[in-house]
Amino acid sequence: MKNCASLTRILIFAMAIVAMANPAAAETIAVIGTGDVATALGPAFAAQGHTIVYGSRDPSRASVEELVAVTGDGASATTPAAAAASADIVVLAVPGLLVEEIVRSLGDLSGKIIIDPTNPLQQSSGALTHAVETSNAAIIQNVVPEAHVVKAFNTLNWRTMVDPASAGGPVSIPLAGNNADAKKVVAKLVEGMGLEAIDVGGIENAHWVEGMLMLWINNRYGNDTRQSFDFHLRKN
Ligand SMILES: NC(=O)c1ccc[n+]([C@@H]2O[C@H](COP(=O)([O-])OP(=O)(O)OC[C@H]3O[C@@H](n4cnc5c(N)ncnc54)[C@H](OP(=O)(O)O)[C@@H]3O)[C@@H](O)[C@H]2O)c1
Repeated sequence: MKNCASLTRILIFAMAIVAMANPAAAETIAVIGTGDVATALGPAFAAQGHTIVYGSRDPSRASVEELVAVTGDGASATTPAAAAASADIVVLAVPGLLVEEIVRSLGDLSGKIIIDPTNPLQQSSGALTHAVETSNAAIIQNVVPEAHVVKAFNTLNWRTMVDPASAGGPVSIPLAGNNADAKKVVAKLVEGMGLEAIDVGGIENAHWVEGMLMLWINNRYGNDTRQSFDFHLRKN
């Protein structure tokens, strides 16, 4: 019996390695949240052949049903924990200040790839500040050490996610995380959307990737000039 359990664990581990080494394989992707980022990423990932399960506090809400219908390709909605349990890739499209609490409510995420697009934004003296000392991605990785957290998609507006051409040139998405294979899987999703992926190193660099958004957001809203910028890696 004990041998059987060990064998099952080895088999699951081997399947996870195969899935991570074959980023083109169709995956079930849990998208937690049904707001702007979920609405940008869910349909974009479905268009690449993946099956999307939204995790919502109210999966039967009309707006969630509409999102499921728009996503198509076998998409569905359920509770956040059930969505996460059904998928090998989990996207945390949730409020940045609540992400730790939400991750703790999702059950066992060991072995899963967690895509973290969140920004821990907090109002302070009229400006938005980065509310955590390290980064949301590092906090999540600490909460679920056996998961593979990849910081991604936090540096651009959801509108650019769905329409990269609107930026007027290529847009790079920095990916920070400790697992190279997980970053390759996420890079494939990024590139499938017409965006460019750039591996910027380990989870410790997520602090700077989240900082890029602080520069963007305060520049855009702080001086009321409505200016904006996109990040593009130039290869020399
Ligand atoms: N908006 C952008 O352009 C953009 C771009 C890049 C990154 N981000 C970051 O991505 C994350 C999601 O942004 P968003 O614009 O998609 O946010 P949003 O529109 O406010 O959606 C957040 C979703 O989280 C879910 N949620 C779970 N618990 C919640 C709670 N206690 N209170 C409120 N919502 C809760 C909700 O889905 P249910 O009601 O179905 O549970 C909600 O639709 C944020 O951390 C943000 O900083 C945003």
